[in-house]
Amino acid sequence: MKALVLAGGSGTRLRPITHTSPKQLVPVANKPVLFYGLEATAATGITEVGIVVGDTQAEIQAAVGDGSAFGLRVTYLRQEAPLGLAHAVAIARDYLGEDDFVMYLGDNFIVGGIDDLVGRFTADRPAAQILLTQVPDPRQFGVAELDASGRVIGLEEKPQVPKSDLALVGVYLFTPAIHEAVAKLEPSSRGELEITDAIQGLIDAGHRVESTVISGYWKDTGNVTDMLEVNRLVLESLTPRVDGRVDAESELIGRVVVEPGAEVERSRIVGPVVIGAGTRILDSYVGPFTSIAAACTISHSEIEYSIVLPRASISGVRRIEASLIGHDVEITPAPATPRAHRLVLGDHSKVQIST
Ligand code: TTP
Repeated sequence: MKALVLAGGSGTRLRPITHTSPKQLVPVANKPVLFYGLEATAATGITEVGIVVGDTQAEIQAAVGDGSAFGLRVTYLRQEAPLGLAHAVAIARDYLGEDDFVMYLGDNFIVGGIDDLVGRFTADRPAAQILLTQVPDPRQFGVAELDASGRVIGLEEKPQVPKSDLALVGVYLFTPAIHEAVAKLEPSSRGELEITDAIQGLIDAGHRVESTVISGYWKDTGNVTDMLEVNRLVLESLTPRVDGRVDAESELIGRVVVEPGAEVERSRIVGPVVIGAGTRILDSYVGPFTSIAAACTISHSEIEYSIVLPRASISGVRRIEASLIGHDVEITPAPATPRAHRLVLGDHSKVQIST
């Protein structure tokens, strides 16, 4: 069995972060979200992994390498444009050969791993097995309709009138039967080859499609709100550790990780919080559910429930909440007069200013 991990896409919902780096590498508790998926894949015993990449191939490849750090053998599969999840399967056709495979969306986050799911699929071998979860508003998801035995009888992509509240989670298991269904697809109204259409094709051709409803936590980290929420969840089970330097005037409360080379001076840190290697926190407050990456500086500031990417610097700002702050960002106070905001914002930036 192989794995196909999707790490292409356009990432429009995470702009401007995704203008300069792929969304699959946005850190959750200072580790790229993609790595959690690769670890879950490795835990199933699968070793052959094809990673579908697009314009951000170089960054993904630099981060994951040959996969040996995860116990995996990674092959990169270039998708010339993000033409849909089923298109990613189509370009991986030769790589996948006649093997069964698990398809994992590289920006999805699932607590509890996928071992059980893969084990069940291997024992039962339906043409496809999908993962479902109950959601409050299914209209933004792929939605499944099941018969009384749990077999999937229909799928719809973002339906106006959903037939159930069961949304597709970003992990799918397939036998090679999927390739025939993919080969017959036409682009949808949004111009993509939809995996939901391919699975519907399997059902229409009389193949068996099974589902598992997961009770555990799942999130698609494609937008900032969900990213912060996943970060919160992962930080909740942080094991506290101080490998950096914390001065006597600082206070650490709760689960706090201070990585090697980090310095905390005259500051109060209320966990769960992770502070990356070489980062300096000076005269500041860092509140719960915050991940600060490596080589950042936070001085005379307050920040809470946020993710800060490497080398950002924040000084004299009270107070930042629910924010995703990109690489090398600089936030400084404006001069006292005139009282005005001075902004240099990249394309597609989103700023909420409290006045
Ligand atoms: P999506 O989040 O559905 O799509 P996207 O990356 O284009 O994001 P947005 O909606 O914000 O513009 O993609 C799910 C995952 O699959 C994600 O990790 C990107 C990946 N993907 C591909 O590798 N190839 C594709 O053609 C598509 C559509 C997605």
